[in-house]
Amino acid sequence: MAETGEQGATAVGNAQGEPILQIRGLKKHFPLTRGVVVKKQIGAVKAVDGVTFDLYRGETLGIVGESGCGKSTVAKLLMNLEQATAGEVFYKGEDITKLSGRALQAVRRNIQMVFQDPYTSLNPRMTVGDIIGEPYDIHPEVAPKGDRRKRVRELLDVVGLNPEYINRYPHQFSGGQRQRIGIARGLALRPEIIIADEPVSALDVSVQAQVVNLLAGLQREFDLSYIFIAHDLSVVRHISNRVGVMYLGRMVEIGSDEQIYEHPTHPYTQALLSAVPVPDPDGREGRERILLAGDVPSPANPPSGCRFRTRCWKAQDVCAEIEPVLEVPERYQSEPGEPAAHPSACLFPEERDIVGTAE
Ligand SMILES: Nc1ncnc2c1ncn2[C@@H]1O[C@H](COP(=O)(O)OP(=O)(O)OP(=O)(O)O)[C@@H](O)[C@H]1O
Ligand code: SF4
Ligand SMILES: [Mg+2]
Repeated sequence: MAETGEQGATAVGNAQGEPILQIRGLKKHFPLTRGVVVKKQIGAVKAVDGVTFDLYRGETLGIVGESGCGKSTVAKLLMNLEQATAGEVFYKGEDITKLSGRALQAVRRNIQMVFQDPYTSLNPRMTVGDIIGEPYDIHPEVAPKGDRRKRVRELLDVVGLNPEYINRYPHQFSGGQRQRIGIARGLALRPEIIIADEPVSALDVSVQAQVVNLLAGLQREFDLSYIFIAHDLSVVRHISNRVGVMYLGRMVEIGSDEQIYEHPTHPYTQALLSAVPVPDPDGREGRERILLAGDVPSPANPPSGCRFRTRCWKAQDVCAEIEPVLEVPERYQSEPGEPAAHPSACLFPEERDIVGTAE
């Protein structure tokens, strides 16, 4: 299960079944340039810097981390909306990062995105019918022209909107309804994978649960595999089978729902988890809130060794020297027959009794 420091060799995480996406050593470095006429590269923003994981068929993999850690860039790389600097994304044995033209279009039909902001992601001048049916222009084979309105009406119904709304415009809907429209568009081509990039972050808390429940129901109905991106661990808790935690372009811990929420071993995950609101007042009493010092360093110049060391309360000198590998810690390697431990990119991984999260 061990990986290279680049997180580039082997997939990690304890998942069952067949991977539908295999991501290996994925990197995206945005060049930093100086000069107007003659542009000279003076560095690079290492937005994603060697990330490896699998997405299994039918599962929901939550990806969490603070703003700027590279979540949206990973999402775009998975659809080849951004050109990878290095690494591979295998979908049914084909490396998406190497595809272009028709071959890429064919793959993209099966991998759709739902975006964060239901206000800006829908064209205000198009009717809902045209928005949801737009993907059929590129893939007419999915719904021939005469069938489209019928299909769009079905999709509206599937996401809990009145099919009679087909001629309305986005401004005539609430935020939650607009996100339902975005989800309907995402479903139009009958994809296998949906990458939802903070799909509920812009919505009122009262509406968030409805949209999460809708996504969960659609997953069962259409046998979808999800990557569900969020800032914090509370949002993904009830929808994810596994969770990956990102920090400054890297995956620092990945495991099943239970492993990440009940037995996290990476200090960053523990800090994120300590900030998750606990509805039960008794649970809150026994819980220690970990406040992280300082800001996230620049991805153009990440710290040496462990990238988290500038904010880690456990950091030692060696943490500046050695870059931890995302692997199952030796001390937690399980005996045969026991549930498998999960990978964590820390030189001193240990469970803390801080969690106390309520269901
Ligand atoms: N096109 C670009 N050119 C240069 N830098 C970029 C570009 N896109 C993203 N970045 C940088 O890459 C890093 C990762 O950005 P990304 O949007 O992937 O983060 P994120 O985790 O999705 O953040 P958020 O939670 O705020 O959405 C950031 O430092 C960002 O400024
Ligand atoms: S390797 Fe060191 S700095 Fe990094 S998370 Fe572990 S203890 Fe903290
Ligand atoms: Mg983002």
